[in-house]
Amino acid sequence: MDIVHIGKAKTVYRTEDAEEYIIEFRDDITAFNGKRKRTVPQKGYFNARISARLFQLLEQRGIATHYKGMVDDTRMLVKAVDIIPLEIIARNIAAGSLVRRYPFKEGKKFIPPLLVIDFKSDAYGDPMLNDDLIRALRLATEKELATIRELTLRVNTILKDHLNRRGLLLPDFKLEFGKGSDGKIIVADEISCDTCRLWLKDSGESVDKDVFRYERGDLITAYEEAAKRILS
Ligand code: TMP
Repeated sequence: MDIVHIGKAKTVYRTEDAEEYIIEFRDDITAFNGKRKRTVPQKGYFNARISARLFQLLEQRGIATHYKGMVDDTRMLVKAVDIIPLEIIARNIAAGSLVRRYPFKEGKKFIPPLLVIDFKSDAYGDPMLNDDLIRALRLATEKELATIRELTLRVNTILKDHLNRRGLLLPDFKLEFGKGSDGKIIVADEISCDTCRLWLKDSGESVDKDVFRYERGDLITAYEEAAKRILS
């Protein structure tokens, strides 16, 4: 199969149908813009399953995503889209780079959530954008940006509710959007332990990629715990 794109943790393949791609969730994991790297058996499997479940949930609630089904345990059939090079981060609770870069105390709640948009570019280190930069770089039109913001807030409400009922807090997460051949903007990429911060409500323990970023224990034990809850 022809490769469309090899990312840090996923590979995208063309299929015989120009409207469909296959995404393989690999066991590779990186952090700090690829500076820390490892291969963790089963990581791809857990992220694929969690993503599939959360995309299905969004579809059930009327949010269009690229998800079409699973080919096998780690390969997802998706609608072919062009990824808009923006990383939309919704923040409900201060954590991660926000508390490193700004004088917020970890755990501070944001109601309504904060939306932060980064430039998806490894070469430039994913810098934060603002509306003027997005316009000047022609990354999205004003209308597309408004759609992306509105969809992210709706996704946040749906995910937060689903996770809270299962004993998980959602401090923050990252979304990517894609544009199909019809020009429609839909949720793409993945929604998984790699792209969400997830804290156990009872203990505050991380069950996400922070376990790898900050060496907080066994990654698969954490991802398995998150998956058990999210898939229930
Ligand atoms: P941050 O606090 O490190 O900026 O991360 C915010 C959220 O975005 C967190 O849930 C993890 C996710 N994220 C990604 O999905 N990809 C990335 O490259 C980074 C830096 C964060």
